[in-house]
Amino acid sequence: MIEAIELLKTRRSLKPVELVEPGPSPTEIETLLTIASRVPDHGKLAPWRFIVFEGDARLDAGAAIEAAFRAKYPTATDEQAVFERKRLARAPLVVAVVSRAAPHVKIPEWEQVLSAGAAAMSLVLGAHALGYGANWITEWYAYDRSVLDALGLRENERIAGFIHIGKPSHTPEDRPRPPLNDITTRFAQG
Ligand SMILES: Cc1cc2nc3c(=O)[nH]c(=O)nc-3n(C[C@H](O)[C@H](O)[C@H](O)COP(=O)(O)O)c2cc1C
Repeated sequence: MIEAIELLKTRRSLKPVELVEPGPSPTEIETLLTIASRVPDHGKLAPWRFIVFEGDARLDAGAAIEAAFRAKYPTATDEQAVFERKRLARAPLVVAVVSRAAPHVKIPEWEQVLSAGAAAMSLVLGAHALGYGANWITEWYAYDRSVLDALGLRENERIAGFIHIGKPSHTPEDRPRPPLNDITTRFAQG
């Protein structure tokens, strides 16, 4: 297991197709979901939930993505449609983090949305800590109402991310990171 600080300093995403079998075991999936649900959450609202896509269910969900794609682009080729059907089947495991933020008498909706982001990031970090790679993506179908209906999302629910998880097929190169001086100021009075 990678040391925590080393993991946090070096973690990188891989593309979904670069995340290969084997995916996490049932016990590991439970560990990942436990980690993802252990995030700061003002008001203890649990303003998120998870949908697990594994095995053939990934293609069943993909059928809804394909249908939405064909409706949007009636002249699309079969090859393009098949690509869409396989969207959630590129990596062995996909977990959708669903934000269920809603107006609340005390807790701003913004804070509930942020908590869903924290759940998604914890899932990514948990996957890396277990020796897997991960990628947090949304892509077009996260915003398509017919796909959301097929996945069982209610009107007030939104996809925070589809977290793709699998064994890394290689060690990815790093990408440039913002210099800390560009993104950090020190508050000084006067
Ligand atoms: C909410 C959210 C949605 C994203 N959606 C996409 C996406 O649809 N497609 C994509 O290529 N990257 C998307 N990304 C970026 C990927 O996570 C990207 O691989 C990542 O920023 C690489 O950064 P890393 O090297 O720090 O992991 C998204 C990121 C976030 C936070």
